[in-house]
Amino acid sequence: MASMCSSVSNSSRFLASKPSSSSSCRSKSNLSTIRCAIGEIISEAKVSSSTEPLLLSAVKGEKVERPPVWLMRQAGRYMKSYQLICEKYPSFRERSENVDLVVEISLQPWKVFKPDGVILFSDILTPLPGMNIPFDIVKGKGPIIYDPLRTAEDVSKIREFVPEEFVPYVGEALTTLRAEVKNEAAVLGFVGAPFTLASYVVEGGSSKHFSKIKRMAFSQPEVLHALLQKFTTSMAQYIKYQADHGAQAVQIFDSWATELSPADFEEFSLPYLKQIVDSVKSTHPNLPLILYASGSGGLLERLSLTGVDVVSLDWTVDMAEGRRRLGADVAVQGNVDPGVLFGSKDFITKRINDTVNKAGNHKHILNLGHGIVVGTPEENVAHFFEVAKGIRY
Ligand code: CP3
Repeated sequence: MASMCSSVSNSSRFLASKPSSSSSCRSKSNLSTIRCAIGEIISEAKVSSSTEPLLLSAVKGEKVERPPVWLMRQAGRYMKSYQLICEKYPSFRERSENVDLVVEISLQPWKVFKPDGVILFSDILTPLPGMNIPFDIVKGKGPIIYDPLRTAEDVSKIREFVPEEFVPYVGEALTTLRAEVKNEAAVLGFVGAPFTLASYVVEGGSSKHFSKIKRMAFSQPEVLHALLQKFTTSMAQYIKYQADHGAQAVQIFDSWATELSPADFEEFSLPYLKQIVDSVKSTHPNLPLILYASGSGGLLERLSLTGVDVVSLDWTVDMAEGRRRLGADVAVQGNVDPGVLFGSKDFITKRINDTVNKAGNHKHILNLGHGIVVGTPEENVAHFFEVAKGIRY
């Protein structure tokens, strides 16, 4: 084995090499070959004979041969093939609302890296126009909400979101993705959490200090609660819609919840997340829900109180400590620093092994601690997937 490949197993009790004959993955099912970046065979991977994607088995706590792996923001941004589509279709709204483009962009990383999760190309803000809140995403500026909501009257104008009516392209794209991916990976949907969506529509876009939503929270809490309730009802519906059209797991992004103190999180985020989880579980008890909040080290125990199946950790939390704090019932996702993908291949390998060792051999989805950063070399992303898929517990 070439040094580049053998370095995969260094310092790890998990082997990114041929599984031993006693390994549980050594079944009589089809075997496919995994090659490392320089083309050598580094392992034989089982193409599961079960119809269930590895990611779903891992979330349930079933015995799996390796952690499933996908990357937040794997669709779009850093891929040259995506940038070419952007040149042809400069509007983010168009790229994310046209079924063919959504499917094509979602499948770009699937075709190159074969991750275990294929996330829909969309945005957490996509439902907003259907709720009577127009937005755009402007290059260099990020999301813009044209008429930020500030008063009870503004909130009363928000329509309940009916996905079938306002985002039929999302359902169509998910259904097509399921057919394309054929259970070789899990098709992943996602939504924004009520507080994070509220922060965009009240601030008018991205924010540094979140002063406008905090002004609302701390001077007119009843207005914010009314807004959060509208997003809660609508996002629960949206998750169910995504599941009914092909999503096999759904990630809830509460990216900005960590701007709240723990006590304020308990008032303005936790009850709404819990309501969403309860509502979805009442109709879709087997749909795995993943919760991500960046910078959530101070909130971990509270995140698991939401009842989600998986908590996605950012890289500022030590994986072993996060595991301990969350307890055995919850699966974990994460949590390699996205900046590691700018490092050397050996360093990337080392950090993957470190994370997998700390997470233990079950209920772990390997991922980054946040989205891939623009400018990440695609060959390093390829290396990440090769190493990850060569791991054997
Ligand atoms: O993960 C994926 O590959 C699926 C696609 C996806 C996008 N946005 C596409 C997108 C996902 C999962 C999101 C979620 C999202 N959107 C979040 C939560 C995740 C997180 O990062 O915490 C948030 C907060 C948003 C809101 C949003 N959308 C911002 C802040 C920005 C601007 C950031 C930037 O890079 O300029 C967007 C735009 C956006 N959404 C882009 C993409 C690929 C970049 C713009 C483009 O490609 O034209």
